[in-house]
Amino acid sequence: MVSRVIPVEPFDLVIFGGTGDLTRRKILPALFRRYCAGQLPPTARIIGAARSEYDQAGYRDFAAIAIAEFSDLTPASEAKLGRFLECLDYVAIDAKGDRGWQELALKVTGNRVRAFYFSVGPGLFGALAQRIQSSGMANETCRIVVEKPFGHDLASAKALNKTLAAYFDEGQIYRIDHYLGKETVQNLMAVRFGNVLFEPLWNSNYVDHIQITVAETVGVGGRGGYYDKAGAMRDMMQNHLMQLLCLIAMEPPAKFEPDSVRDEKLKVIRALEPVEPHHIVRGQYLANADDKDEHPSYREAVGDPRSSTESYIALKTHISTWRWAGTPFYLRTGKRLVARSSVINVVFKEVPHAIFGQVAGDYANILTIRLQPDEGITMTVTIKEPGPGGMRLMHVPLDMSFAEALGPDGENPPDAYERLIMDVIRGNQTLFMRGDEVEAAWAWTDPVIAGWQARGDVPKPYDSGAIGPGDADQLMARDNREWRGIKP
Ligand code: BG6
Repeated sequence: MVSRVIPVEPFDLVIFGGTGDLTRRKILPALFRRYCAGQLPPTARIIGAARSEYDQAGYRDFAAIAIAEFSDLTPASEAKLGRFLECLDYVAIDAKGDRGWQELALKVTGNRVRAFYFSVGPGLFGALAQRIQSSGMANETCRIVVEKPFGHDLASAKALNKTLAAYFDEGQIYRIDHYLGKETVQNLMAVRFGNVLFEPLWNSNYVDHIQITVAETVGVGGRGGYYDKAGAMRDMMQNHLMQLLCLIAMEPPAKFEPDSVRDEKLKVIRALEPVEPHHIVRGQYLANADDKDEHPSYREAVGDPRSSTESYIALKTHISTWRWAGTPFYLRTGKRLVARSSVINVVFKEVPHAIFGQVAGDYANILTIRLQPDEGITMTVTIKEPGPGGMRLMHVPLDMSFAEALGPDGENPPDAYERLIMDVIRGNQTLFMRGDEVEAAWAWTDPVIAGWQARGDVPKPYDSGAIGPGDADQLMARDNREWRGIKP
């Protein structure tokens, strides 16, 4: 299968934080891959802006190294690298001072799409927005892209929204949650709303429960300073898992258009019930004796032997709507687990009457959506065990691996940033979070955190390379259910 690539129109993209980690790992490699795919016009201008003193040639060298490190160069793509680098420029800039702004304004000219990527901490958002305006670079169609974390709680998210709204309309603000750019996450919507099969069953009459797992093998690495103030609830649950929950639970939008989709997601977040304290399990990873130098415990990694920040969280919640009343949603995410595995399981109820006098022992139908790795979809169905000896039932998976079904397109789905940056240039906000969505997500998150802080809750230690704290299994077992999905 050959994908159709529609080139985007000429643009200027200014990356503030142009020498930062995200730019190296994600933004530049994503732009390069889109260039190789033929989506970037050769006249595109990509301007790195940061404090470091690079000149244009120096920045192009910096970009070449980043791309070689993070984008699986092939002989074919390597041949295009030189031409891509010609799109790159650099301005040494001071976000809060005067340095560089005039020079930047001279480069961002003409009647073309203008995008400003704030790949910097939220503390600089206001200064950058104000300088973009005062240096005359802002126009009606320009847009800004802001990274997470979008605030630390409801009050700080509101303050950030207010700051940005002083300079830009909501239609110009692209708040990134990179999970929305993942190919299989978009497939969630395609599966739900592109098939007649699922939607009639997609409610509490037929769905027993839903599980969302985002398991990582990595630890906090060098991000301890940020992470220890955030924890898994703020770093992953409030945004990535919440967005997955929204796409699974929302009503069908009238159209696949930004506000139709975001209105429906917002309704889900607002209908989330508060989480009961005994429906939350927090954990913190330990080191393993055999590789503790390479993989220190959470507390060592963040340099605080008394830290009570969670690197794992599991919780059960409900959505108070006609569609979902009575269906529990179980969500869990954690670091240093046995496998990298993001998976959603929609577990359907048993048949109302067992005519064969038996059920096959597990749920008859489970729809499993594997987000990463090995992207694909499995539907478990019940069939007759082959052979004579009566009517015995068994479960078999109807398995679709995207890599097998889609060939090269399925094997190498574009990185989330490729899709999202192209959407910014195209001016499509569907896969970006609106300000009210982010605030609603914090409004649900804040009391959960305040609750455990008031109780002086300490996270449960769990072994690195395992499946997380045992209490998370208890959370399920109390409801006669079990987690599915983290496979080593
Ligand atoms: C980021 C979190 O938003 O997502 C990280 O800050 C996390 O802590 C990462 O590791 C996971 O993203 P992915 O795409 O690797 O699943």
